[in-house]
Amino acid sequence: MSDGGAPAGVFGGRAGDWASWQSSPWGRLRYDVVRETTARAVADLPAPLRVLDVGGGDGTDSLPLAAQGHEVTVLDFAPELLARARETAAARGTAVRVVHADLDDLVPGEGPGELGSFDVVLCHNVLHYRADVPATVRLLAGLARPGGVLSVMAPNPAMDVLAAAVRRLDPGRARAVLDSPTVHGETFDHEMRRLEAAEVEQALAGAGCTVERRFGIRCLMDLIADDERKAEPEFYEQLLELELLLCEREPYWRTARFWQLTARAGG
Ligand SMILES: C[S@@+](CC[C@H](N)C(=O)[O-])C[C@H]1O[C@@H](n2cnc3c(N)ncnc32)[C@H](O)[C@@H]1O
Repeated sequence: MSDGGAPAGVFGGRAGDWASWQSSPWGRLRYDVVRETTARAVADLPAPLRVLDVGGGDGTDSLPLAAQGHEVTVLDFAPELLARARETAAARGTAVRVVHADLDDLVPGEGPGELGSFDVVLCHNVLHYRADVPATVRLLAGLARPGGVLSVMAPNPAMDVLAAAVRRLDPGRARAVLDSPTVHGETFDHEMRRLEAAEVEQALAGAGCTVERRFGIRCLMDLIADDERKAEPEFYEQLLELELLLCEREPYWRTARFWQLTARAGG
């Protein structure tokens, strides 16, 4: 089943490209910042947390939470990525539950593996592949317990324009993408919707959630043309420190490569 979003083969078939992207300086920075922003968003919840990572792929966002003693479930429809999550967890000596399911087939409380309800529901970099974003957000909200935290993120359309003009010195490309509803994603070689944070804020409110925090992930890195410097450990650490200072500040978060919203689930 599918709501018309991207099929599983798009992701599972490019697991190697995904892993290469993740290990690049820009991939690492995305995960390093999100580890911190997510920790800030769930800090008031009593541990251990029941965490569900929807479209969690190889679990790079959620496996560190398992290592901290939280109970992590990774749900995805790409078996290749779930196998990687399992292998990584085993290599680190941590426990993780993986659920092979299409999120269109989920009914909260009755879904595959009797999912139940969770203190924290992550859905990172999935919504822009979905045809019906409000329906997906309602589904996610139904998987969180009342008072639990929902975290969603997606590429920020603003950075499509800024990166083309500033980093790639290509004003023509920046102009072309400015009003385009989609952009071609290189890693999974697939069209992605250009999804605004404001649209998802509305969907979260419609699902009975209260948005608490708004983050920008990689406020600066995508504007820097020199990729070799990004791989230098000292430069990377200095940039990471600065990114962590900017990620929740006006106006920087609004133009970062990704937006991340965290919201409190209603009762
Ligand atoms: C760009 S990857 C993001 C993976 C992970 N959340 C991260 O940020 O590292 C998108 C993930 O969503 C999964 N996905 C997309 N549509 C899905 C669906 N309908 N049901 C389950 N998983 C889905 C893909 O298999 C893939 O692992």
